Amino acid sequence: MIRIAVLVSGRGSNLQAIIDSIENGYLHAQISIVISDISDAYALVRAKTHGINAVHIDPKSFDSKESYETEILRVLDSHNVQLVLLAGYMKILGKPLLNAYKNRIVNIHPALLPAFPGLHAQEQAFKHGVKVAGCTVHFVDEELDGGPIILQKCVEVKEDDTAQTLSERILEQEHKIYPEAIKLFAENKLRIDGRKVKIIK
Ligand code: GRF
Repeated sequence: MIRIAVLVSGRGSNLQAIIDSIENGYLHAQISIVISDISDAYALVRAKTHGINAVHIDPKSFDSKESYETEILRVLDSHNVQLVLLAGYMKILGKPLLNAYKNRIVNIHPALLPAFPGLHAQEQAFKHGVKVAGCTVHFVDEELDGGPIILQKCVEVKEDDTAQTLSERILEQEHKIYPEAIKLFAENKLRIDGRKVKIIK
């Protein structure tokens, strides 16, 4: 069974979707550790409620980003983690993590990449006036929100949408495609070929 770590910074609804997918048998995986850079992230509470190891690692108690990531790496290694999931983790990853877990770090982004990378993607898309928004699960590399795309789901923008209502409908789809993508990874059905991710049937 694949051993997963989830890195979080906030409310953790995607973490919850992953936990639920494991508990209902859809995903054959184990969350070995949840790590947050924010001490009061609700995601930590969600993990603990489900009996999952969860730790706060405070970036401020390290003198550099590199030493902070080296500590994360130590924790990941101590749990024999095979796949790292970013789920609302608000820090940009640096070399220690990217190198150690190359092609084994995945993120969920609330827009149809490569459109609207970065923060507040749903709002960016809404303000831009797109008719179709959505979300993307992708591998993480050195480029912000730029790694090879695993799955995407589109969400139609309605005439009476606000950035908020649109974000909520995108989030519903995030909660579906993230577990789907993890399942594909866990079943060894993903092959990275340059920018493309081939899905083996
Ligand atoms: C989600 O919209 C995700 O796409 C983005 O950050 C948000 C995290 O939400 N990367 P949650 O903490 O999983 O509820």
